[in-house]
Amino acid sequence: MFDILNIDSRSEEAQKINEDLYKNNKKLLIIYDPPYNEWNEAPTFKSHSAIAFCSHQSRHEAEKKLGKPRTELVWFFKDGRWVSNYLPRITHNYIYVYGETDLASVGEKQSTKPQKKGKGSIGQDKSLGDRIYYPKPYKQLNSVLCYSRNMKSGYWSKPEKMINQLIRWVQPDAVLDPFASYGSIGSVCLDLKINYIGFEIDKNIVGIAQSRFKAHRTKSYVL
Ligand SMILES: C[S@@+](CC[C@H](N)C(=O)[O-])C[C@H]1O[C@@H](n2cnc3c(N)ncnc32)[C@H](O)[C@@H]1O
Repeated sequence: MFDILNIDSRSEEAQKINEDLYKNNKKLLIIYDPPYNEWNEAPTFKSHSAIAFCSHQSRHEAEKKLGKPRTELVWFFKDGRWVSNYLPRITHNYIYVYGETDLASVGEKQSTKPQKKGKGSIGQDKSLGDRIYYPKPYKQLNSVLCYSRNMKSGYWSKPEKMINQLIRWVQPDAVLDPFASYGSIGSVCLDLKINYIGFEIDKNIVGIAQSRFKAHRTKSYVL
């Protein structure tokens, strides 16, 4: 299942598709990425896990809709945005995470060689003895993610590498992307062979995303 639909995520049709996806998947992940100034209008959907992108101005609206997140990440981008000579440049956004996730070892590959930890790392409790740390094959996700904003196709979108890590952390069966735009999240789902449905209100953008998926599919696995 892989599709991007030209529908309004606030519509009844959108809710109905969500019901079906929720019923038919063990782990449905919703990725909320509305225009930040429209968070107050964003609909909510049934899911097992959710990831929500928001800014310092919209985080309170996101919390009103979705509640207090289980954990929060900060997306740091050096190529920040000037707002005023009297305020700092904006170089971060928030990523709120809700519900079930899997192992957070989704970073770069690393050596799994066991490391003996000296008594110093145990602190005052001498009864614990020597301990050995067994690293996982991939580095653990940091709570601050450093990625430049993705302007590669001439429009702002979330960096695919960052989305890839977040989706692998959750390990969903399906992703619902109610603010799909040009399909960056969809492209990552194609790479990871995860079922995907996107909603996008702008017909022209849907057309561009569809061509992007078509090009992507010819060079990778077809869902
Ligand atoms: C911030 S962008 C999403 C960026 C995307 N996640 C990415 O990484 O490329 C928000 C998108 O939501 C779309 N949108 C806004 N309101 C919508 C609605 N009610 N239903 C569906 N799409 C909507 C906009 O047209 C825009 O393309």
